[in-house]
Amino acid sequence: MRGKHFPRPGTAPNVDRMKILLIGASGTLGTAVHRTLAGRGHEVLTAGRGSGDLRVDLTDPDRIAELYDRAGLVDAVVSAAGSVPFKPFAELTADDYRAGFEGKVLSQVELVRQGVSKIAERGSFTLITGVLGREQIVTGSAASLANGALEAFVRAAAIEIAPQRVNAVSPTVVTESLPAYGPLFAGMPAVDLADVAQAYVRSVEGGLTGQVLIP
Ligand SMILES: NC(=O)c1ccc[n+]([C@@H]2O[C@H](COP(=O)([O-])OP(=O)(O)OC[C@H]3O[C@@H](n4cnc5c(N)ncnc54)[C@H](OP(=O)(O)O)[C@@H]3O)[C@@H](O)[C@H]2O)c1
Repeated sequence: MRGKHFPRPGTAPNVDRMKILLIGASGTLGTAVHRTLAGRGHEVLTAGRGSGDLRVDLTDPDRIAELYDRAGLVDAVVSAAGSVPFKPFAELTADDYRAGFEGKVLSQVELVRQGVSKIAERGSFTLITGVLGREQIVTGSAASLANGALEAFVRAAAIEIAPQRVNAVSPTVVTESLPAYGPLFAGMPAVDLADVAQAYVRSVEGGLTGQVLIP
């Protein structure tokens, strides 16, 4: 039903302009998330290892502390970063699993762990996981482990950090990455980057917490 209080099309209802810290802004997902959040009127501070307004290596907790100091007070922290090795099970070493856990799980956990005392009182965290937390592919066991662990963390952390919020966006392979990863995800439907970016919008601007958002 469309009454006089219904928001104008194209506007974000009841959402003020936010200051958002986006890590991984130069990547495939990050570029789309940046464009979408900036297009909705938010101030987006970008960060990455090699480019962005601020430089950070998320695998180093000291660099995360510096990142928060330099960013100042932000309303939302958004991650589109994280790396994990893909190899046949027989070739995955203990170091590979450790690298995947540090590169995708501990790195983003640390963003939340340090961030709760740094971001706005009612601020939010949006992390990135992926379909392999719930589906399996050959070469994907380190990625499945990482995504499953991070999603369990999101559900658990949410009940302790309120009124701050934390969610994960968990896409399947994105259409734009099919040339690189398509054969690994044979038979799985892809999702467009634009839809992934909308899941980030739902997390940042909405009231959800403890959710794994599947675009
Ligand atoms: N592409 C897909 O189809 C897909 C689907 C589901 C989930 N995901 C997940 O989405 C995330 C991003 O994927 P993508 O395809 O967009 O990757 P990408 O194009 O390689 O981009 C990764 C971004 O993260 C930054 N980054 C990587 N490691 C970092 C670190 N340790 N510290 C700080 N920044 C770091 C990179 O910048 P610098 O190199 O400059 O640091 C880059 O901006 C990954 O976690 C991936 O598993 C991707």
